[in-house]
Amino acid sequence: MPARPEPAPLGAWSAPVPIPFVDLDAQRRRLGSRLDTAIARVLAHGRFIMGPEVAELEAQLAAFCGARNAITCASGTDALALGLMAKGIGPGDAVLMPGFTFVATAEPVAWLGAVPVFLDVVPDTFNLDPACLEQGVRTARAVGLTPRAVIAVDLFGQPADYDAIETICARHGLWLMADAAQSFGATYRQRRVGTLGAITATSFFPAKPLGCYGDGGCVFTDDDELAEAMRSLRVHGQGRDKYDNVRIGVNARLDTLQAAILLEKLAIFADELDARRMVAAHYEALGEDVQVPRVIAQATSAWAQYTVVVEDGRDALAAALKSEGIPTAVYYPRPLNLQSAYRRYPVAGGGLPVAEQLSRQVLSLPMHPYLDPGTQARIVDAVRRARESLSRPPPAGE
Ligand SMILES: Cc1ncc(COP(=O)(O)O)c(C=O)c1O
Repeated sequence: MPARPEPAPLGAWSAPVPIPFVDLDAQRRRLGSRLDTAIARVLAHGRFIMGPEVAELEAQLAAFCGARNAITCASGTDALALGLMAKGIGPGDAVLMPGFTFVATAEPVAWLGAVPVFLDVVPDTFNLDPACLEQGVRTARAVGLTPRAVIAVDLFGQPADYDAIETICARHGLWLMADAAQSFGATYRQRRVGTLGAITATSFFPAKPLGCYGDGGCVFTDDDELAEAMRSLRVHGQGRDKYDNVRIGVNARLDTLQAAILLEKLAIFADELDARRMVAAHYEALGEDVQVPRVIAQATSAWAQYTVVVEDGRDALAAALKSEGIPTAVYYPRPLNLQSAYRRYPVAGGGLPVAEQLSRQVLSLPMHPYLDPGTQARIVDAVRRARESLSRPPPAGE
């Protein structure tokens, strides 16, 4: 009987230290007691709904991005809904949007009885392809709908190509909403996200570039009438008199506690955006191994995600990284036109070849402002080694 190999001595092998995908603890440590003090202040004054921190946050958010009005709300999804409701979107209306996005872009359109029409995206920016808009208008009309609006999504933190989109919107009398859930802090032609489109909607979901400790969102607009409508809609359609509701609204207020937390996080946000840009710049070294994202010349990204395209072997790469303690995510494994609840909606041109291909090839790597150079080097090195070994032909005889 062959001798059994000696077991490896204890401690000779240890699992690689897992890397967080988003490190909220590091941010928490940086903010230290400031967060506790801010929360304690709200507990002391007790104005948990529409307390003073909400108004202060709205003023600071508007100043940060240069919008005339910032209206906080309960989530990014509600932010989109408030915009659509303020514009009177409803049955018979079509809202054009990219099919490669999170479901929340389309969901409020469907709530309102309107119809999302899905369009394809640009392969290396992941954002709405303006060249598909005309086809989207034709598709909507062909099924008897009135094209009313476009929702441009700033996927992974990069603004869509607003100038090109706005030109086509103007030609067809469409209004434009920016789904900036992932891009607050980014810029487009020297303008900050928040001032693009008639209405901008963002999210403060914890993992977003500016995130709170729960759900939260905000809508921005330079149009005072729309702003007043959205302020009313988020509180049950309230009029000037609290008990005279002048429109059918929703309950979509941001909690005062979340506003207090966001005020502390906003104070370090510009610095965190710089740190995200540095991380993204280091990841560019991966350009020879996988396709790295392209940021259009006139924009900067908020780098909510760092998403690469792996032409073949995406899942094998993810598995190899996982075995080294490196988490990855697939945003999004299925475009909206292929999701069960959304299959019945129109698709411009009959299919979304780019979105469908991307859903099989994208892989998001750990991205947050506290990713130190050593840890990042470990990720880059692991991607390289995995790509090398995966591309090597198997030894002869196998
Ligand atoms: C593109 C996009 N739109 C909308 C939303 C909705 O935001 P929330 O989760 O705050 O409702 C998200 C959130 O992930 C998103 O990524």
